[in-house]
Amino acid sequence: MPSRPGRRLPSDRLLTVLTCPLCRSGLQRTGGALRCAARHTFDIARHGYVSLLTGGRRPPSADSAAMIASRAAFLRAGHYAPLARTLAALAADLAPPSATVLDAGTGTGHHLAAVLDALPGALGVGLDSSAPALRAAARAHPRAEAAGWDVWRPWPVRSGCADLVLNVFAPRNAEEFHRILRPDGALLVVTPTDRHLRELRGSLGLLEVDPAKEQRLRRTLAGGFRHERAERLEYAMDLTAGDVVSLVAMSPAAHHLNPEDVRRRVAGPGTPVPRVTASFTASVYRPRRAGR
Ligand SMILES: C[S@@+](CC[C@H](N)C(=O)[O-])C[C@H]1O[C@@H](n2cnc3c(N)ncnc32)[C@H](O)[C@@H]1O
Ligand SMILES: [Zn+2]
Repeated sequence: MPSRPGRRLPSDRLLTVLTCPLCRSGLQRTGGALRCAARHTFDIARHGYVSLLTGGRRPPSADSAAMIASRAAFLRAGHYAPLARTLAALAADLAPPSATVLDAGTGTGHHLAAVLDALPGALGVGLDSSAPALRAAARAHPRAEAAGWDVWRPWPVRSGCADLVLNVFAPRNAEEFHRILRPDGALLVVTPTDRHLRELRGSLGLLEVDPAKEQRLRRTLAGGFRHERAERLEYAMDLTAGDVVSLVAMSPAAHHLNPEDVRRRVAGPGTPVPRVTASFTASVYRPRRAGR
């Protein structure tokens, strides 16, 4: 079957990274799909990402189209630009310019794109289980590609192929992070601190961030990873009421808060909201070798 016009095919380099999720062998392009030697076949979506999730087992945690649209709007407004700059600087320090970068729960691919800008020959592969996220991630950067996957399941990714794994406010799979990283690779995890959005949490009913989150993360990763360093990033954001509505609509609170209620609580869309704290920890981990 000829590929559809305008479709961006997965690159040859991506095919050196991905494996068949059913039998673990390599994948080849055939027209509008990828196929392994055992003829397991996976669609290349019109929007350019590869759908490796089969059997309708999409995890319930996947972001909806409305959540992704809100996330895209909020990120486009630049409120997390200091975080993108921090990630770019860390990536340039941790990985070679031609790195293979895997981004677990990539969302719109915004942070992956910032990292790719800092690594001029790198390939970025964003994994996500949300189709609207994958559509955005596949066009986030000329060297970003995207694959539909549930990061809690074993990844359709070759062992030891990644120089850098990114995990920004997204689900983690410590075993798979370890398996796919090269022994000298790095894992970069970003979590919000308990001060993140603190001015808004009470008034909008946002979920609290557990103050022990960072410690819990270190414990979860401790079996396979050594904590190397952490950078704390904190700054004030000047948000409009519209930004606050996007912020709520892109967060897990979107499942239990009504955007109309939020809009009423923060008044008109152009109304500035008092300065709101953004507060993150970016942590660098290194894979432990067996027996160390
Ligand atoms: C809070 S967003 C963060 C997105 C992105 N990393 C960023 O910094 O903007 C979490 C993302 O993880 C994805 N996600 C949630 N559960 C997942 C799973 N089990 N497998 C893959 N992706 C998942 C969601 O669809 C969403 O895009
Ligand atoms: Zn197969």
